Amino acid sequence: MKHFINIKDIPKKDLRKIIIDAKKRKNARKKLNNLEVDKGSPLKGKLLIQMFEKSSLRTRLSFYLAIKQLGGSTLTLRADELHLSKGGESIEDTAKILSNFGNAFMFRTDSDKKLEEFKKYLSIPIINGLSPSSHPTQILSDVFTVEEIKKKPISKLNVTWIGDSNNVLNSLIAASIKFDFKLNIGCPKNYQPNENILNYIKDNKNKIFLYNDKKKSVNGADVIFSDKVISMNDKVDKIKKLNHFKKFKIDKKLMSFAKKDCIFLHCLPRGKEVDEKVFSSKQSKVWQQALNRIHVQKSILLYCFGKLR
Ligand code: CP
Ligand code: NVA
Repeated sequence: MKHFINIKDIPKKDLRKIIIDAKKRKNARKKLNNLEVDKGSPLKGKLLIQMFEKSSLRTRLSFYLAIKQLGGSTLTLRADELHLSKGGESIEDTAKILSNFGNAFMFRTDSDKKLEEFKKYLSIPIINGLSPSSHPTQILSDVFTVEEIKKKPISKLNVTWIGDSNNVLNSLIAASIKFDFKLNIGCPKNYQPNENILNYIKDNKNKIFLYNDKKKSVNGADVIFSDKVISMNDKVDKIKKLNHFKKFKIDKKLMSFAKKDCIFLHCLPRGKEVDEKVFSSKQSKVWQQALNRIHVQKSILLYCFGKLR
């Protein structure tokens, strides 16, 4: 049994194995409908319990289909309906019940500490479906999408992030270190990654560069990533922050400074950080990106169950 909490804690070869498995599985079910089960039904009889302390559309749907396509099933708990949320039950006891009733737990939370606490008391795998510090299932899936579209290992590509230094970027930084790809980060000066992340970058041989100029950050880019400037539960002066990011909007002109065949990716939901003309252009691959979550999460589930081929 393995947990899937942070990309930085998962061995490189396991991350690569997940991507290879996802590719094979995606190819093998081209003619199947969403609810048809993969050959061999590898997670037959298994129950994935999901819980979201924050909103979700894609993660919820993609994990639902992921476990179904592997032959298992899912149950989504409403965080506000548990005794835990009202202080009436401990994480320890909640984790014990989850472990006795289910076979894996997918958790979107507002607290990294809670993820660690659950991990301590669960005897089933826990998957991080987004926390304040990371969004690992999203980024592993995005690495898959980039390689699928570009038909090259991501280590041979230049990736640019334009946006806030948030959970998604933290996971992208970890992916850059694990998969050895160049990553330019473009953001206003006051919104650079925090000291812990900068130290993590420094401690690992890396190809990560910071820019406070959006044009410079997209030079030679094969892929431009972005995310909402204001993340869920971001406790900031929103108007001020949005103003600071105005100069970093991704528009057609900016795309013209990147490589000709540069693609645009966004984990969604979007805000005003990207112009409609880019978002709805041919360069934008956001819908393919969202759908790939299913395929990669299936292989993440198999990894957690120790069933990755
Ligand atoms: N990208 C992503 O995680 O979307 P949701 O918040 O809708 O799950
Ligand atoms: N950074 C965003 C990602 C949403 C999928 C957030 O945390 O709200």
